[in-house]
Amino acid sequence: MLILGIESSCDDNAAAVIETTRPGVVSVRASAVANQDDIHRAYGGIVPELASRNHVVTIQPVIKRALASSGCTLADLGGIAVTRGPGLVGSLLVGLMYAKGLAQASGLPLVGVNHLEGHLLAPMLEHEVVMPYLALVVSGGHTALFVVEDFGRYRQLGSTRDDAAGEAFDKVAKLMGLGYPGGKIIDDLARQGAPKKFKFPRARVKRAPLDFSFSGIKTAVALFRASAAGAAAAPADLAASFQEAVVEMLMRPTLAAARELGADTIVLTGGVAANSRLRARLSEAAAAEGRRLIAPSLKYCTDNAAMIALAGSYRLLRGERDALSIDAEANLPL
Ligand code: KG4
Ligand code: ZN
Repeated sequence: MLILGIESSCDDNAAAVIETTRPGVVSVRASAVANQDDIHRAYGGIVPELASRNHVVTIQPVIKRALASSGCTLADLGGIAVTRGPGLVGSLLVGLMYAKGLAQASGLPLVGVNHLEGHLLAPMLEHEVVMPYLALVVSGGHTALFVVEDFGRYRQLGSTRDDAAGEAFDKVAKLMGLGYPGGKIIDDLARQGAPKKFKFPRARVKRAPLDFSFSGIKTAVALFRASAAGAAAAPADLAASFQEAVVEMLMRPTLAAARELGADTIVLTGGVAANSRLRARLSEAAAAEGRRLIAPSLKYCTDNAAMIALAGSYRLLRGERDALSIDAEANLPL
């Protein structure tokens, strides 16, 4: 079955075509993304109104591009999967309404997908992953540990009590005047810095070893920058030391969960999974305990529609469809 995926939950507008024969066995025919970084850069963060208005402009060309490079037309498809939450509601509505229009006009079945489910299953686009597996989802909006028990069955073990890790990267990059989006910029800059130069506190949540907290680290960096030592610090050392703290705060609960579950595989996914230091350190620490780290390649870590098509595929393969009255939900639970 060929499935068109549509994703517009935040600032990226994406469409993809995947081919699947049974749940989890997929090949990506095409995956197109229209990135809005240039639009939001001037504001140092995503402006929801601008995001949704730009989705309106880019959604049709992006879908056309994905269909053209997959070599198929609407008539070849078996269904449409679209993100319906969580995310920015104005952005979600653009993708959802476009998908409903396509479904109505073509008669194709439509399924609404949870964006987090897309991230959780994304490693399957390229790897054979055996369920159940432990997954750390770490993005601009989420930081959480899940057990993926089966398609549609996800058990949350822990999550952030405040900011998401990606948010910490973006906020620290902003206060350091490095630009937007911050994750990739800090990752690149940190390669020239010393990760042990400055010691930032590694927050732990009392009596909740599988939870995370990232609001303290950005205040710690801000306070340090205001000090004499901070003012003299090389930006690369500061970036590397901050990144090291975030990486270690992500690693501790993840490894604890892996030990608790006896998991032989750890999946790392979401935009921050693109971080080179996190990938290297977590994979090294997992290997030292006889575990394997699986992370999607960079294009499937950050928001994309191939993961959305994949997350919709097991329902479409079962012959399910959602009513065209489904709504977008900013806080859609998994
Ligand atoms: O999954 P994603 O594309 O969108 C959300 O669903 O949030 O994640 C975006 C987040 C941003 O906060 C961005 O700064 C972060 O992922 N990010 C990174 C890297 N690349 C993207 N963070 C750290 N290192 C990176 N290389
Ligand atoms: Zn995402």
